[in-house]
Amino acid sequence: MAAERKFFVGGNFKMNGDRKMLDSIVENLNKTECGNTQVVVAPPTVYLSYVKEKLSDNVNVAAQNCHNVAKGAFTGETSPDMLLDLGISWVILGHSERRHVFGETDELIGKKVQYALEKGMQLIPCIGEKLEEREAGTTEQVVFGQMETIKNNVNDWSRVVIAYEPVWAIGTGKVATPQQAQEVHQKLRQWLAQNVSDAVSKSTRIIYGGSVSAANCKELAKQPDVDGFLVGGASLKPEFSDIIKARC
Ligand code: 13P
Repeated sequence: MAAERKFFVGGNFKMNGDRKMLDSIVENLNKTECGNTQVVVAPPTVYLSYVKEKLSDNVNVAAQNCHNVAKGAFTGETSPDMLLDLGISWVILGHSERRHVFGETDELIGKKVQYALEKGMQLIPCIGEKLEEREAGTTEQVVFGQMETIKNNVNDWSRVVIAYEPVWAIGTGKVATPQQAQEVHQKLRQWLAQNVSDAVSKSTRIIYGGSVSAANCKELAKQPDVDGFLVGGASLKPEFSDIIKARC
């Protein structure tokens, strides 16, 4: 694990929570100490400001998605410009639920990556193979293809944290084994070295998502190319603090 890659734990609340629940999550986060870990949480859009106001400054807030233009006739969408106006500088893009439930294409995700970066945001683009793709032995091909689109739209890798989230592990309780995660992360790092640069390969955080819990986070965190997590379900529970402290 390279010293220059600060351990990163993201909490993706997805479409969950109300003010009461968010209050208790924030209370828990505000008393969780792990100075060595960067923490970013992504509440639903309507609660972004609510959560940001209550969270201590050492935890950042991210949107779960955004569009690729500043404003206009895009009913239901949120622009990076609006997020930045609220002081939200992080965004998750291309989450598997955006890809597979809402039909977002690689092309659209690429445009979002490009625009959000141009506006100065920090991104967590997500990639990952479906079960049938893993079983067909095409995991590498799938994630490298997704990386290619991301790469073509990134001009500043210091503001990008890649989330590898195998679709079969998301919300299923079926976590990738530490070896499975390490294998893909190591290949992604090699891909970055070959397709971007050695420096970017060494400095870019590659985090794992998919059924991460207090019970499995420590072993995953020991893997040299696992630089943190993007946590769904468990980020809504008190055990999220244990995950934040996985490498403390
Ligand atoms: P779970 O942790 O609930 O499997 O979700 C992972 C995820 O999708 C994080 O973005």
